Amino acid sequence: MVFSKNVKMNILGIETSCDDTCVGIIKVENQKSRIKSFNVLSNIISSQVKLHAKYGGVYPSLAKREHQRNLPIVLKKALKKAGNPKIDLLAVTSGPGLEPCLWVGVNFAKDLAKKLKIRLVPVNHIEAHILANFVGGNSKFQITNYKNLFPAICLVVSGGHTQLILMKDIGKYKILGETRDDAAGECFDKVARILGLGYPGGPVIAAEAAKFEIRNSKFEISLPRPMIYQKNYDFSFSGLKTAVLYDYKSRSPKVRRLKKYIRTIAAETQQAVIDVLIYKTLKAIKNYQAKTIFLGGGVAANEELRKQFKTRSSNSKISFFVPPKKFCTDNAVMIALTGYLHWLKKKKWPKIKAEANLRIS
Ligand code: KG4
Ligand code: ZN
Repeated sequence: MVFSKNVKMNILGIETSCDDTCVGIIKVENQKSRIKSFNVLSNIISSQVKLHAKYGGVYPSLAKREHQRNLPIVLKKALKKAGNPKIDLLAVTSGPGLEPCLWVGVNFAKDLAKKLKIRLVPVNHIEAHILANFVGGNSKFQITNYKNLFPAICLVVSGGHTQLILMKDIGKYKILGETRDDAAGECFDKVARILGLGYPGGPVIAAEAAKFEIRNSKFEISLPRPMIYQKNYDFSFSGLKTAVLYDYKSRSPKVRRLKKYIRTIAAETQQAVIDVLIYKTLKAIKNYQAKTIFLGGGVAANEELRKQFKTRSSNSKISFFVPPKKFCTDNAVMIALTGYLHWLKKKKWPKIKAEANLRIS
């Protein structure tokens, strides 16, 4: 991709692919081949977590209704927070995700584009999780000399997806492998449900695991690392969840309630997921002689995963990037940025529609 246009503009992103209604606004100034300035003006997220908590997962028709109700409110808040700027470009998640939810965002964005007489760019949610790496801790564009980073290996780990992707440039991707059943985040969510820890599972499992102390635990739990040594880049996490269920069922009701038991099994679940993710990513790095790791998606907010990836990649002299935590989980800043980067190189898009099974390519 060549950043050829000299532009200064405000881009508004809309994200409704799952259970978060998000609107984000960024201000970008681009000069010749580089981004001169980049600022996040607002990043509003209306989470439906409480609503879906009782189901232990997302209920699509309920989520759709909430998006319809929330989107105008979230838009208003985002505009106000940004100081009501003139919007020059719109971007919306068109897939992958829950189809009824995606349509809410797509139709809303189409109407808004018509009203404001500006262009609308469709965005792939998975690509947005990858490009969220371009936003640094101070909400500034953190990667300028990006050409030197490729080929890169991207690991997108979220509630709906676990994919290992070879990236040759912004916009050039090849899926190397993906989960055959549950996504990594889904595994955390299901394990948390088994252990009675609530939803979403990732943050609670991480919190319990952080309290685990080897010297203090009388439990020895050893969970499987599914598919770790297989000669492919695919994943499978449903067996891990089942192994947790068997261990849990084999314990007495008294043990199941013990903090030490919960902490031990949470720590082991987390480490089993981390071991598989890191092993397969480093194998891809080696086989494709890649220079960089881009981590993204909700599970990338996991502190232990970030720490272990950092250590392992610095030992092997690989550049490792992970977005600030608030840009790992679903947000619309990543949608606005991805839409902008594509707008820089493309003139037109075919008719925009929601695509539940959209693939990155
Ligand atoms: O990317 P995301 O916000 O939504 C999807 O696109 O799916 O990811 C949500 C997932 C949930 O499964 C949640 O449990 C997980 O990310 N997650 C975490 C953490 N924070 C969120 N998993 C592990 N550790 C965390 N700290
Ligand atoms: Zn996501």
